[in-house]
Amino acid sequence: MQVSDTNRIFESVSDSSASEISLAEAAEIVCNLKAVPTLDEVKEWFSKLLLRQRDYDRYRLFTDRKYARNLVARSSFAELLMLCWRSGQRTPIHDHGGSVGVVMVCEGLLTETMFEHAPGGRVRPYNTYRWGPGAITGADVPDVHQLLNLQPAGRDMVTLHCYAPPLSVLNTYSPRSSRVGRWREGYFTGGAGI
Ligand SMILES: [Fe+2]
Repeated sequence: MQVSDTNRIFESVSDSSASEISLAEAAEIVCNLKAVPTLDEVKEWFSKLLLRQRDYDRYRLFTDRKYARNLVARSSFAELLMLCWRSGQRTPIHDHGGSVGVVMVCEGLLTETMFEHAPGGRVRPYNTYRWGPGAITGADVPDVHQLLNLQPAGRDMVTLHCYAPPLSVLNTYSPRSSRVGRWREGYFTGGAGI
């Protein structure tokens, strides 16, 4: 099945004598995927990433309106994005609409709150994590969470994300309402190779 194609791609990375891969190499992997990678595969791949700020400066773009989603690479099977967050910026409470997601913290302190489904269609928080630079966290298909930059004013946060397959329409939730929203994310900056 398709997974073997994916494994081959990841093996070719792990077989290389250098155990580290650059952001440019990660982008190349995303563009050359032949199948949707699993959560564990993306996590392993992120664990080999060596991120230097000079390599990702071009994607390190913020907006005061909301957190900025800057596209690094995209194929039919996965997308790689750099998200840049001013203090106080946050996602809605959401799932991933059928994709898996992996996040690596590049700068700052990421707060991730996990939610579970409660009676009546609401959600309730059951755990909160704080992730520092270098931390990698994954969200499986059914997971519901919220990502936040809760650092004090003036403290920015930068995170690298891989979604497989690329995000389409997500579901959003609330602890106070049973209403499930539909949410489609755009890119602040994006396009192959920019
Ligand atoms: Fe998410």
